[in-house]
Amino acid sequence: MSNKAILEVNGQKHEFPTITGSENEVAIDISSLRTATSGVTTIDPGFKNTGSCVSEITFLDGEKGILRYRGYSIEELAEKADFLEVAFLLIFGELPSKEELDKFHADIKSESIVDDDIRKIIDAFPKSAHPMGVLSSLTSALTAFNPSSVNVDSQEDMYKSVVRILGKFPVLVAWAMRKKQGLPLDYGDNSLGYVENVLKMMFKQPNEEYVQNEILVNALNKLLILHADHEQNCSTSTVRIVGSSHAGLFASISAGISALWGPLHGGANQAVLEMLEAIKADGGDTKKYMSKAKDKSDPFRLMGFGHRVYKNFDPRAKIIKVTADEVLNDLGVEDPILDIAKGLEKEALTDAYFVDRKLYPNVDFYSGIIYRAMGIPVEMFTVMFALGRLPGWIGQWREMRLRKEPIGRPRQIYTGSTHRPFKSVAK
Ligand code: SDX
Repeated sequence: MSNKAILEVNGQKHEFPTITGSENEVAIDISSLRTATSGVTTIDPGFKNTGSCVSEITFLDGEKGILRYRGYSIEELAEKADFLEVAFLLIFGELPSKEELDKFHADIKSESIVDDDIRKIIDAFPKSAHPMGVLSSLTSALTAFNPSSVNVDSQEDMYKSVVRILGKFPVLVAWAMRKKQGLPLDYGDNSLGYVENVLKMMFKQPNEEYVQNEILVNALNKLLILHADHEQNCSTSTVRIVGSSHAGLFASISAGISALWGPLHGGANQAVLEMLEAIKADGGDTKKYMSKAKDKSDPFRLMGFGHRVYKNFDPRAKIIKVTADEVLNDLGVEDPILDIAKGLEKEALTDAYFVDRKLYPNVDFYSGIIYRAMGIPVEMFTVMFALGRLPGWIGQWREMRLRKEPIGRPRQIYTGSTHRPFKSVAK
């Protein structure tokens, strides 16, 4: 295959090299375009056709519905791996040995206390505050309490900030939830595994012993793995571009949390449940919502459906759909919402509007049903997405910094007023 592309601009032909990735994806390298053409650039709203980087972390094939972390299939990892193993894999590139994993976990545990003054910040929020806004603020505030984690150029300093945020973030997640519930803000238990500890911090009642439930542990472990990375999605691209200015890891992650909050992105898992609840309240009238979703004059979209990359089933949605059945069955939970979701999926998959646009259920369509069965409040669903995505954000930020990538600064085409003289208001 020729490794060049020829572009004719203003009657002149220009040659540009192409690069081919390890999965035979091909990109035209246009880094010399502006110079070669005396100022011509490209434009691509939403970057639907534009790559921002080369990366060794995650591979997606949207047509075939393939997702792999560092070459391992999401199906295998979700079935067999532990979340912290997957975090290590995403961040450092290889699955850890037992010794490496034990040391990684020990280093994270040694960082699992947050400065008590952070309570003063969280106390300043009204109970009505959305936990994603609280989490983004508290994550950014971590910088104030851990200044050494800002200018990290050496690998060892970078490692320290990595284990620091992996240790502190679950505490902030639990505090964001418990604050809304009026429960005391406590710390975890370093004798527990990472996922067990998250559950205990979230759910321990002050007047009772917390008893672990293996069903919840396994379900959360699987959900966190499924959400752990997804190449250059909106929030990860945000983390990379903020980090490209050499802003610290915590500030970059805080920006990623804000991007994930949007209902078109991670906020969709909360929007899906709200949509399913509305359909249930409407007597299960899925047809009404389907026509709303197809009506261009109606801003409503079928939440949990469609994807920028997947034009086939999101492999994570397939796994989560099966897990939802298992978890509800194991917990003995009957949730009519699940039946409404399945009905909606069945209708959409035979409806020309959705079929023509290759709109399939994505990762957010079924995940909220499991979170709800686990007793997680709906406003915390996107926070759980962020907890899963944390190692992906870290790995992508670290890759960008180790590669010493340039600061991200896209061009534009100006379409505003041309030069005009200023007239003071007196005139
Ligand atoms: C995540 O990028 C990632 O990897 C994200 C993610 C990750 O792990 O990080 O996978 C997580 O964010 C999953 C997506 C969660 N969002 C939702 O479920 C919200 C609903 N989905 C849509 O808003 C939409 O599908 C997006 C945002 C996900 C993708 O939008 P695109 O790629 O910009 O596609 P588009 O808006 O150009 O849609 C193409 C067509 C349009 O119709 P036409 O103009 O061609 O007639 O499909 C229609 C859209 O109107 N369409 C939908 C629809 N999604 C797309 N119509 C109704 N309902 C929908 N959900």
